[in-house]
Formats: sequence, C-alpha cells, structure tokens
Amino acid sequence: MRVHVADHPLITHKLTVLRDKTTPSPIFRALTEEIVTLLAYEATRNVRTNEIQIETPVTTTTGLAISNPKPLVVPILRAGLGMLEGMVKLLPTAEVGFLGMVRDEETFQPMTYAERLPDDLSNRQCFVLDPMLATGGSLGAAIEFLFKRGAVDVTAVCILAAPEGLEKLERETEGRDVTIVLGALDERLNENGYIVPGLGDAGDRLYGLV
Ligand code: PRP
Ligand code: URA
Repeated sequence: MRVHVADHPLITHKLTVLRDKTTPSPIFRALTEEIVTLLAYEATRNVRTNEIQIETPVTTTTGLAISNPKPLVVPILRAGLGMLEGMVKLLPTAEVGFLGMVRDEETFQPMTYAERLPDDLSNRQCFVLDPMLATGGSLGAAIEFLFKRGAVDVTAVCILAAPEGLEKLERETEGRDVTIVLGALDERLNENGYIVPGLGDAGDRLYGLV
C-alpha cells in the first residue's frame, strides 16, 4: 500500500479552516471541494492513458487520452458525497458509482446500506472518496468490495487519517495495488473512534445532524 500525504501550504491553510469548529456548513462544503480538487491532482498521477495523434492548427502531434474503460469514482455516502464535485472537476469523463456505509458508533463496524456499482469492475481503475479514515473499517470494507468485483487498482482520497486506521488497511490490503492520498495524517484516535485533532463528524459538518 502506498500512502501519499499532501504537503502544500494551500491544503494546510484550507484544512485549518475546515478543522475550526466555528466554520459553518456552507464554507465547510466549499473547502472540502477545493481540498479534494487539489488532492485529485496527486491521486490521478497514475491514471491510465494511451497515446493518440491529433492535428494542431500547425502540425500533427501526439498526446495522451484517458484510457477506456474510464476510471470509476466511488464516493462513500454520506460524507464522501461532499468530495465528488471536487474530484470530477479534474476527471470529468469518469463514471460514478455509490456505496452507502455507516459506522456503528459502539462497535465501529461498518454497515453497508446502499450499493450502486457496475457488477464487473475488471480492468477498472477505481477512486474511492471518504473524508475520514478513522479505524479504517469503512474504507477497508469499501476497498474489499471493489476488489471482489474485479477492480485491479484502487486509490482512496481522504482528507484526514489516523495512524491506527492506516495500519489496519496496510495489513488488510497486503499484496493489492492500493494507494491512499491524504490531506493530513493526524495524531491518533480517541476513545470514541474520532480522529484527533480531526475535524469532528464530517457528515454532520457537511450536511447537519440527521
Ligand atoms: C464516517 C466517515 C467514514 C467513517 C470513518 O462516516 O465518513 O465513512 O465514518 O470511520 P472508520 O474509519 O472508523 O470506519 P459515518 O459512518 O459517520 O457516516 P456518514 O458519512 O453518513 O456521516
Ligand atoms: N467519522 C468522522 O466523521 N470523524 C471522525 O473523526 C471519525 C469518524
């Protein structure tokens, strides 16, 4: 498993506002989108392309086009939905599938309540979006789901992660082609399974308490 932590002052600046508990939902949503667009640049570094020939007004030249089948972007509902626009801004031809998951706040086990993905993901590059990689239960289950459907490589884009969750994923994805792109790697999990210092409950901060 490869882990890439973004190291850029613009991302850190935006993350600082995101972490601030006084930041209201409209600003939180806008910043989430902006941070994901910046992370998407790194996450798509190995997007599959093929060489094509084109005519410029001056001559014939070669360039690159994103290969078929097009990449699949999978936001994990609910909070991952807040990352979708930021991702497809850079990858507008991607297809989008959905996984709905919620973590049991007592056991920290993820429960899948919705799934809308192609049956066959063979030869498909997948990009999973989830802002918080805490215990790693939700992202681990999502990645496993995609590999079971035939995905060959999975890149996860997360805004924050805890070391405990990363270690769990590292063990579970051994031998698989998995990349994790992070806005920041935080200190630890607290006794409630929240990332510290973190930003609180990402879904609630994006969409309110439901
Ligand atoms: C949050 C978050 C992740 C998960 C992370 O979602 O968006 O999916 O928790 O925790 P884990 O790494 O310990 O599994 P939540 O279950 O709160 O659902 P929501 O997106 O609907 O708010
Ligand atoms: N889910 C969140 O939204 N935040 C955390 O810190 C952990 C899990």
